[in-house]
Amino acid sequence: MNFEPYPFEKLNNLLQNIIPNKNYEASVLTIGEPQFETPEFIQKALSDNASLLKKYPKTGGEVNLREAMRAFVQKRFHTKLSDAQIIPTFGTREVLFNFPQFLLFDKENSVMAYTNPFYQIYEGAALATRSKVIHLNLNAKNNFKPEIDENELAKCDLVILNFPNNPTTATLSLEELSEWVYLALKHDFVLLNDECYSEIYTDEPTPSLLEAAVHAGNASFKNCLVINSISKRSSAPGLRSGFIAGDEQILREYMKYRTYVGCASPLPLQSAAALAWNDEEHVANSRKIYKANFEIAQEILGTDIPDATFYLWIKVQDALEFTKKLYEKYNVKVLPGEFLARENASGENPGIGYIRIALVETQDKTRDALQRVKECLGE
Ligand SMILES: Cc1ncc(COP(=O)(O)O)c(C=O)c1O
Repeated sequence: MNFEPYPFEKLNNLLQNIIPNKNYEASVLTIGEPQFETPEFIQKALSDNASLLKKYPKTGGEVNLREAMRAFVQKRFHTKLSDAQIIPTFGTREVLFNFPQFLLFDKENSVMAYTNPFYQIYEGAALATRSKVIHLNLNAKNNFKPEIDENELAKCDLVILNFPNNPTTATLSLEELSEWVYLALKHDFVLLNDECYSEIYTDEPTPSLLEAAVHAGNASFKNCLVINSISKRSSAPGLRSGFIAGDEQILREYMKYRTYVGCASPLPLQSAAALAWNDEEHVANSRKIYKANFEIAQEILGTDIPDATFYLWIKVQDALEFTKKLYEKYNVKVLPGEFLARENASGENPGIGYIRIALVETQDKTRDALQRVKECLGE
C-alpha cells in the first residue's frame, strides 16, 4: 500500500536543513494536541483502577463506559441512543481506518468521498479499501463547506464529513447537516461525520449529525454514523477513548468485526474515560482557554474568531517559504496547508497558500508565538 508520509514527516523534511534562531524559545504550533495536563480526577481514576489490568477487557467495553457515553450524547446533543447504537472505541483513529475496510470489504469498485483538506487517516482507509476517492474541496469560495454534486454522490458508498472541521474550522448548521442526511438516504451511501472537535466550540454548541438525522425524520439513524473522542475534549489523547454511534444495523455487524481487530480498551483506561465523559466542568474550562487564545490571535493577527476547534487557517503568500522563514528567523513551527490536502480532479489543492496554526498552548506562550508570526508576516 502506498501510504503518503504523514504531514509532520513532510514538515520535518521541509525544515531539516534549517537552523532555527536560538534567540527565541522554540514554539511548536503544529500538532492538534492540547498542551495541558489531563485533569487530576481522570489521572487518579486511571491509577486507582490499575489492578484491573489482570483482566482481559471486552471488545464492546464495560457497561459504565457505554452508559457514560450515551449520557454524554443525550446531554450534549439531546439524542437518546439505545445500547446497540453506540460502540466504545480505542480513540477514533483506529475506527476511521478500519471502519471503511469493514464496510467496503465486499464492494467492488468502491467509492469514498471526504472533505479536502482532511485528517490523513481517511486517505489511508481509501487506499486500504482500494476505493476511488472523490475529494470534497473546502475553500474560501464555498466558505469551507462541501459543495453538493448529486451525480458524484450517487456513486459513493461512504462519505466522511468532518464538522467542526480540522483544519479550516468550518462548522455546519443543523439544517446543512440534515441536507446531508437526506442525500445519504436518497443515494444510499453511508454518511460518517467525524465530530472529534464537537466539544471545542467557542460560544454556541455545534450540532451533531445524530441530531440532524432526528431533525430530518430519520430517527433510526439509517445510513448515518458519528465518531467522537475524548482526546481534545478532556486533554487526554493518551487515554484513547472514543465511540462510533448511529445506525444500529451497521453497528451490529461492525461489532463482530471489531472482535477480530482486537482493539479493546484496557479496563483502567475505561474507568477513567467513563468519569471524563460524565463530566462537563473540565471541558468548559478548556473551552475558555481556547477562546482566550482566539481572542489573542484576533488582537495580534486580526483573525476572525472561529466557531469551533483550536486552529487558525491562515492565508499567506507562499506557505512553504513562510513556514521555513518563520522557523529560521523566529523558531516557530506551523504546518503548511498543502500537507493536509491533495489536488482534486480539477487540479486544485485547496491547502495551497494556507498555514495551520494549532492554538493549544497557554495564553502567555500563545501571545509570544503569535507576535513572532505577526513579525514574520509583516516582513
Ligand atoms: C479530525 C480528526 N479526527 C480524528 C482524530 C483522531 O483522534 P483520536 O484518535 O485521538 O480520537 C484527530 C486527531 O487529531 C483529528 O484531528
